[in-house]
Amino acid sequence: MKFKILLVICLTALIAGQAAASTVLIISARDNTLYQAATGTTNSNGAGEHFFAGRTDDGYIRRGIIAFNITNFIPPGSTITGVTLTLNMSRTRDRSEDITLHRVLANWGEGTSNAAQEEGRGIQAAPGDATWYHRFYPTSFWAAPGGDFRATASATTTVSDREGLFSWSSTDLVADVQLWLNNPGMNFGWLVRGGEGTIKTARRFDTREVATASLRPVLQVSFISAAALGACCVPDGSCVTVTSNQCTQLSGVYHGDNTSCTPSPCPPPIGACCLPTGDCTNATALQCSALGGTFQGNGTVCTSNLCPVILTPFVDALPVPAPLQPVTGSVGGAAYYEVPMQQVQQKLHRDLPLTTVWAYGTAFPGPLIEATVEQPVTVKWINNLRDGNGNFRTNHYLAVDTCLHGPDHHGDKPLTVVHLHGGKVAPKDDGYPEETFLPGQSRTNQYGNVQPPGTIWFHDHALGITRLNVYMGLAGLYLIRDSLENSLGLPAGANEVPLVIQDRKFRTDGSLYYPAMWDEHFFGDTLIVNGKVWPYLIVKRGKYRFRVVNGSSSRTYALALSSGAAFHQIGTDAGLLEAPVPLSQLTLMPGERADLVMDFAPYTAGTQLFLTNSAPAPYPGTPGVGVIPNVMKFIVTNTVGHTAALPASLRPVARLQESNAVVHRDLILRKGNDPCTGSAWLINDLHWDDITEFPVLGTTEVWSFINRSGVAHPMHLHLVLMQILDRQPFIVSNEVIVTTGPRVSPPANEAGWKDTVRANPGEIIRVIARFDGFPGRYPYHCHILEHEDHEMMRQFEVVLPPIFTGIQRLGSDIQLNFRPTPNRFHFLQRQDDVFNGSWTIFTNNIFGSGSNTSVTDPGGAAQPKRFYRIGLSP
Ligand code: C2O
Ligand code: CU
Ligand code: CU
Repeated sequence: MKFKILLVICLTALIAGQAAASTVLIISARDNTLYQAATGTTNSNGAGEHFFAGRTDDGYIRRGIIAFNITNFIPPGSTITGVTLTLNMSRTRDRSEDITLHRVLANWGEGTSNAAQEEGRGIQAAPGDATWYHRFYPTSFWAAPGGDFRATASATTTVSDREGLFSWSSTDLVADVQLWLNNPGMNFGWLVRGGEGTIKTARRFDTREVATASLRPVLQVSFISAAALGACCVPDGSCVTVTSNQCTQLSGVYHGDNTSCTPSPCPPPIGACCLPTGDCTNATALQCSALGGTFQGNGTVCTSNLCPVILTPFVDALPVPAPLQPVTGSVGGAAYYEVPMQQVQQKLHRDLPLTTVWAYGTAFPGPLIEATVEQPVTVKWINNLRDGNGNFRTNHYLAVDTCLHGPDHHGDKPLTVVHLHGGKVAPKDDGYPEETFLPGQSRTNQYGNVQPPGTIWFHDHALGITRLNVYMGLAGLYLIRDSLENSLGLPAGANEVPLVIQDRKFRTDGSLYYPAMWDEHFFGDTLIVNGKVWPYLIVKRGKYRFRVVNGSSSRTYALALSSGAAFHQIGTDAGLLEAPVPLSQLTLMPGERADLVMDFAPYTAGTQLFLTNSAPAPYPGTPGVGVIPNVMKFIVTNTVGHTAALPASLRPVARLQESNAVVHRDLILRKGNDPCTGSAWLINDLHWDDITEFPVLGTTEVWSFINRSGVAHPMHLHLVLMQILDRQPFIVSNEVIVTTGPRVSPPANEAGWKDTVRANPGEIIRVIARFDGFPGRYPYHCHILEHEDHEMMRQFEVVLPPIFTGIQRLGSDIQLNFRPTPNRFHFLQRQDDVFNGSWTIFTNNIFGSGSNTSVTDPGGAAQPKRFYRIGLSP
């Protein structure tokens, strides 16, 4: 991709006679990456927005290469007096690194290859591209693989763990530019080298193709010119100080010798201007701001999706999902359902064209499944995602970032798998992130509903693309009830309404916008509830039970009523609280649910109230930053609704006792490095396949999430229901966690059954859970979907306790056979008198490798009686 070289003159000062000192800023004319890889790989990224320097995790080196057109801007015969190269580092690592510039000794090219989202690995080179082996693919080669360059660095700068602009300047750079001015045929630019001695050093820089002009590589050159210079207006509207000849070469208009660019004599350039209405018009920057618009940059043009969509709130009624009808069985009872996942066109706002979404069934969010405790439900989930021609999709609708685990193997396939979040189910029915299936395939899952009633939900869980599948719409509500709850007289029927809250970003054509490259968070600019943008609900003068689900990717909500009135929380993620808790504000992180009762009886007919949000994004963030203040509107009618008082007590919540916990685990949450995306959020610095948590079936454990990152993480465990024990503040001093305050019990509205808990930054949150139900592997993860998709998800494995399988005499010894607990250490104890003796350990540290194990008690057969027992080391 070729485009005009942009440049601006900073300063012009006249020196006696015709000689002038001047400074130019020159944007790179070519830039690329030389990608080392397995032999025979010839990747490049000529037209990409980034280049790389350093060594990646897989051990391979990347070298940036960059060149500037010197003679276009600096008159022949000039003396170079200063050179500074400035690069924007857009992804970094958690330590500093020296980045060196080396003069390149042979010519090289920039072709049209564009690795797009996975630039860290490049893509097959296009003709004319530089590669690790080629100067110009596929015909010319470097003398040595990795590029021909001067071994001595021309300049060195240490880049830090902070992204941003970094500069290089030195007398060697001045000499390089002087050389290129005097001998343009030798100007091949610089090679940009990072730390190549160790792995995991690679950094990413922006190229001349990056969208934001101020982030492109820029070379500032100061020089004294022998020839006369003057202001030259180039076609993009900027002013450059060059010679008359150079101005002609740049297709500019020369304003005469010794004319100045300050102030600029050039007519202001026009560009696209986004108006407050969401419309786009061409204007100068000044005209645009006079219109209250946002100027998109010099030379930009209005395209159909350039400007943000502006939607009027509260013009659509809140959709209330109806209970799904089963194929056999009854709604709310034992039943068999079939649910197709389908690509459908859905109207999300009065003024928005139809949006392509993925629905469980016919609309998103998916249908409501009604269930009752101990009445089993079976669902056949059918991946029926088809393209516009009715064929099974072979790729995702959204761009897939193949840096992430999952897509790195499967590419952009539209894989799905359904997880019942909050359901206590066997591993085979849990919707395992790796057990995905394609369009045309299905999975049948059994949900026993052997658990307390609760507001649970189902959503997609495909490894590395969960955020994309849920964003497309794959989420739905699953309510479990029982007779006790039904007898409480809570608002029901039309007075019980689910509210699934999500954030989205739209293009003007109605399509969903989601970034192609993984980012740490995604925050939409528009809220939808039950699939409508900022809807309204007409309410009777009475109480409503709202089952609120935060189904967003990254966004936390702090919900309140605009009247300031209190409401009651009656249930948490997985069931009723002991008693209603009055609240004026409720914080809900992604994945969390709340069962709320709001009373509209006190308002006169016609009153309008708003459900508001004040949570910053990211959370907890800075007050006011990133907030979308409105969620939905309630309009009160004069019909009388549910006016019965709330019961004073709801359901006892049996407290799990810390003294019953057999294992305490510490799980540190913090950001780490990633070779492809730059960063990833991690749990104990480990990844999905590193399994280190092996709770024993039926035992109780305490898990402490120690949040060493700057943001809150909603931590979710599959299989179990948790209780929050407490939260405690801490600081890190010399890498040691030092608590700075007491352990504080959770507030009353969090003192119920939870499956997703808010781990605040700078706090240790302790949760307690009993690992019962089923043995096997389950995920646990942060429910910020961007985090879950990129390594903040690991597995625990519920294992069976060890058991003796046989005992026999072997001469004078006794041999004991047992089935060990996998991945745990065992000790064996013996004694001769169970009533008066004491147990002694006779063998220790036997690792359960997975197969049956024998242990010998030497001389044991000589005893008249001997008793044995086996235990697990903590
Ligand atoms: Cu709602 Cu493992 O997720
Ligand atoms: Cu879950
Ligand atoms: Cu997180």
